[in-house]
Amino acid sequence: MAERYNNIIEFDEISSTNDYAMSLVRNGEVADFTVVKANFQTKGRGQVGNHWVSNKGENLLFSVIVHPHQIPANEQFIISQCVSLALCNVVSLFCKDVCIKWPNDIYVGNKKIAGILIENLLKGRLIETSIIGIGLNVNQREFEGVPNPTSLQNEAGRQFDCETLLEQFLSVFQEYYIESQKHKRRLRRKYRKNLYLLRKKHLFKDNTGEFVGKIVSVENDGKLHIRDCKRNEREYYFKEVEYIL
Ligand code: BTN
Repeated sequence: MAERYNNIIEFDEISSTNDYAMSLVRNGEVADFTVVKANFQTKGRGQVGNHWVSNKGENLLFSVIVHPHQIPANEQFIISQCVSLALCNVVSLFCKDVCIKWPNDIYVGNKKIAGILIENLLKGRLIETSIIGIGLNVNQREFEGVPNPTSLQNEAGRQFDCETLLEQFLSVFQEYYIESQKHKRRLRRKYRKNLYLLRKKHLFKDNTGEFVGKIVSVENDGKLHIRDCKRNEREYYFKEVEYIL
């Protein structure tokens, strides 16, 4: 049964916190920063139809609901920037070498520690509601079937309290979210500064095959620019290019 205190709705087990958040939104008004949190998800969803699998009670699994009416639909990447920077800040309290793998995976070194699934409901040219789903690997030590995972426990060598991490995230996220309304350029600069492999030679793959290039920038709408060896600038939206790890 769900327990509701402050703005947090907590489940021991649920299909997906994003799905539950979406049903709340569809059924009526939901206050900004309402959180749906679960110890276990039976149908946790990742990006592009992937599953998000997580041991029971070991990790932080939650969705935050906001209504960013002030953000135009064509700038929805701002939300992604706020969330990834906030997560980056929290993870950096305990780990070194934390960065954002475009568009919004959180990495420690070359390993993924958190994933973000943002689902926006648009109204005309504005964002009516944004459901921000986050899976942060906290106390789980072993993972199956994912390529390069890590957790706070694996990196820092100790256990963490998920409630405290959630509070830390919410407070930093709110700051970024409020700042984003006035300081879009500053936010974009911070996001860029924290990008994984920024300006480093790396092997990528697009629909023409593999190539070596360097990430040079990300546009306001999230489009990634990679400069290849022939100094051609290639541009990609999400899933149009792959990092060969
Ligand atoms: C990714 O593929 O990297 C995104 C993973 C997002 C997982 C989180 S866990 C909480 C929320 N509920 C879901 O069903 N998915 C997100």
